[in-house]
Amino acid sequence: MKFFIDSADINAIKKFSKIGMVDGVTTNPSIIAKSGRDIREVITEICGIVEGPVSAEVTATQAKKMIEEGEYLSKIAKNVAVKVPLTWDGLETCKVLSDQGIMVNVTLCFSSQQALLAAKAGASFISPFIGRLDDIGEDGMDLIKDIREIYDNYSNLSTEILAASIRTTDHVRRAAIIGADVSTLPPSVLEELAMHPLTDKGLKAFLDDWEKSGQTIM
Ligand code: G3P
Repeated sequence: MKFFIDSADINAIKKFSKIGMVDGVTTNPSIIAKSGRDIREVITEICGIVEGPVSAEVTATQAKKMIEEGEYLSKIAKNVAVKVPLTWDGLETCKVLSDQGIMVNVTLCFSSQQALLAAKAGASFISPFIGRLDDIGEDGMDLIKDIREIYDNYSNLSTEILAASIRTTDHVRRAAIIGADVSTLPPSVLEELAMHPLTDKGLKAFLDDWEKSGQTIM
């Protein structure tokens, strides 16, 4: 499974990239706004750190303008994936940009039918939002399961499933079991993935015993 970082936090992106944990980055208008930085500037900087796809989202809602924004964003760097919402205008934008060889990430996906449309429009990625479905009392992971099954039924569909709106480490575990191609993780969830109380307890015991032995390795 590939890990994308769902953040424009440069320090976090650098930190986890160094350990080989970052296969790409996703942003959205809220994330860019939170960074307090200009979208062109921050996407350029991220693309200089990460070789994989870096999603930058259009904010227009009509296809003509969305296409213009998408073409503009795609020129920032060759690894920019243009993010569009799952609307008919977004799907039209997806088709036009994909036909030009531009990676498109179709976002705000809440049903497997929507995911099917995105794949047919040539999306490189579909972003089903797990956490937001959990928020309304559904099990977001059911959507990942359905999309996986549907995409696997048709060998001509090459869209990657990018599990988004991930809030917990258990979301990552379940998405990986189902076979989502990518999980996009807030840095806090990525941080937590390595943690286990038995690891801490075991390490403490090892180090206590080692100290008692009086030995040093070097
Ligand atoms: O990748 C989409 C993600 O940023 C949405 O997450 O937690 O705002 O639902 P969340």
